[in-house]
Amino acid sequence: MKKLWGGRFTKTAEEWVDEFGASIPFDQELVEEDIEGSIAHVTMLGKCGILPSEDVEKIKNGLYTLLEKAKQGKLEFSVAYEDIHLNIEKMLIDEIGSVGGKLHTGRSRNDQVATDMHLYLRKRVTEIIALIRQLQKALVEKAEGHVETIVPGYTHLQRAQPISFAHHLLAYFWMLERDRERFRESLKRINKSPLGAGALAGTTFPIDRHMTAELLGFDGIYENSIDAVSDRDFIIEFLSNSAMLMMHLSRFCEELILWSSQEFQFIEIDDAFATGSSIMPQKKNPDMAELIRGKTGRVYGNLFGLLTVMKGTPLAYNKDMQEDKEGMFDTVKTVIGSLKIFAGMIETMKVNVDVMEKATKQDFSNATELADYLANKGVPFREAHEIVGKLVLACIEKGVFLADLPLDVYKEASPFFEEDIYEALKPYTAVNRRNSAGGTGFSEVRKALEKAKEIVNTP
Ligand code: ARG
Repeated sequence: MKKLWGGRFTKTAEEWVDEFGASIPFDQELVEEDIEGSIAHVTMLGKCGILPSEDVEKIKNGLYTLLEKAKQGKLEFSVAYEDIHLNIEKMLIDEIGSVGGKLHTGRSRNDQVATDMHLYLRKRVTEIIALIRQLQKALVEKAEGHVETIVPGYTHLQRAQPISFAHHLLAYFWMLERDRERFRESLKRINKSPLGAGALAGTTFPIDRHMTAELLGFDGIYENSIDAVSDRDFIIEFLSNSAMLMMHLSRFCEELILWSSQEFQFIEIDDAFATGSSIMPQKKNPDMAELIRGKTGRVYGNLFGLLTVMKGTPLAYNKDMQEDKEGMFDTVKTVIGSLKIFAGMIETMKVNVDVMEKATKQDFSNATELADYLANKGVPFREAHEIVGKLVLACIEKGVFLADLPLDVYKEASPFFEEDIYEALKPYTAVNRRNSAGGTGFSEVRKALEKAKEIVNTP
């Protein structure tokens, strides 16, 4: 089929070659942004006296008709027209006649595609920022009910020190806060207009780039036309921010999966976010958490994919860059889906408070309390550590826990031990006393919770 750019060609490519080169199967996702960009462009062409106003009106009406159809899913795209830009231009010409061919005056697909993607990401990143907030809200609400729920804290996945469960949940709140900040900060770069950069060098037409930028709600324009059309940093940055976010979600998923195992039984994931087995009737699998953990891999892949695509491309536009889209769309879909599922999982999960607390009484995670106890009485911490280490060993040999040892055993280990060690050994006391800033002490956790609430309630 004859191409919109077919003037200098004497023969057409075969269909399978066209198919290989086409982006329309996936870039149709940009249809609304593409039309919106065109409306701004043609409006500017009119205002700057580059096109007569009756042509501009016709083109705009045609574009609005197409936009309406696009919203209703009524446009039919064709591989013969390669990408979203040429498909829309062809449809416009079919809709309003040859005057539609004036739309592309002073513009190139290179600045057009970049504009579309800036518009697209602005919308999606804004949505992602709101969804992160939703998840943070769910965490804060859960945490509120569990300030005094005590759970073993781990390092190396070995019981370390007892902590408040709310404190553990809020750790994720702060990770997500950094993610949210990163996405917000990236909007500064996403919200710049490449439109009017032309193919790479600008244009001879007296266009007004600031006008189109303003019409499209951009904060400013790319300063350099070559950079404008060849920059994909904003997409890489989006993928990188997404990779970091997914890494956080994935770590959390790993914990939910562990906690819901029969070995831990700290939580139960709601039936709505779990599945059964086709063969083992007793099973309830934390599929959604596993899937989010798994999908993190594809987001990393998308990041590395685009970094690799870009590393060898000379300035300015190269067709390689068409490869920027599928990974971006896939990441948007994955991140949005994961955030929604996650908020649902947190809101509905059941916390087995008793199991958690029982766990803290059946381990040595209170050993630090004893060492601190001695250190408080002037024993050098290193020596205190050694004394308590020996007591732990003695317990392990006898098959008991620290609270089970009689006072005379303690006295023998160190004359500084008094009756009040039994109070210090209680997990509740251990948590309650850790009130250094940002620690797990209940009063610190309450303060942190207030801070977190203030954050989620500020728009
Ligand atoms: N479909 C192309 C892409 O996604 C649009 C830009 C094409 N420009 C060009 N000069 N061939 O990158």
